[in-house]
Amino acid sequence: MSNAPVDKGRRRFLTVATSVVGAAGAVGAAVPFIASWNPSAKARIAGAPVEVKINKIELGQLVRVEWRGSPVWIIRRTTEMLDSLSTTENRLRDPDSKVPQQPIYAQNQYRSIKPEWFVAVGICTHLGCSPQFIPSKFAEAEGVEAGFFCPCHGSRFDIAGRVYQSVPAPTNLVIPPYYFVDDDTVIIGVDEGAA
Ligand code: FES
Repeated sequence: MSNAPVDKGRRRFLTVATSVVGAAGAVGAAVPFIASWNPSAKARIAGAPVEVKINKIELGQLVRVEWRGSPVWIIRRTTEMLDSLSTTENRLRDPDSKVPQQPIYAQNQYRSIKPEWFVAVGICTHLGCSPQFIPSKFAEAEGVEAGFFCPCHGSRFDIAGRVYQSVPAPTNLVIPPYYFVDDDTVIIGVDEGAA
């Protein structure tokens, strides 16, 4: 594989500001009075859902946010990326996502609520490295348009985070709970109706 697609992918990485849903104001008020409450408040905020505005994300672009101390990717997939998903399936370890690495609403070919939007925890399921986003020409010989490559031990995933056969990673990438508030806003860390 050449380095060109990798570099292109890196340029497309973007980390955006997010807001924690709820709790932040309450923490600021309570800290001076109840010292013992502080750790649980920190823990609560660390695990709190995050709200992300997605209206500025371009087609083919990956945005990275943080949730529970882990990177979470949001990718606006192109039509070509979505079309590539059908071409990968006979080379995948778990093409139907039978291993519960995702909420039930993401157990589909796209592994997402809306095909265009891919939301995943950006941690390799082998030993926890951060895979690189390859926006195009991931494995041209296999007809794969895009995906992820883990530089630590060579695991590969398609653009729905489904792991290929014969690589060290045992399972597909993890999909966190999330839902769309509206067309421009996604909440990561909680299912719809559970916020
Ligand atoms: S940590 Fe990704 S392949 Fe080993």
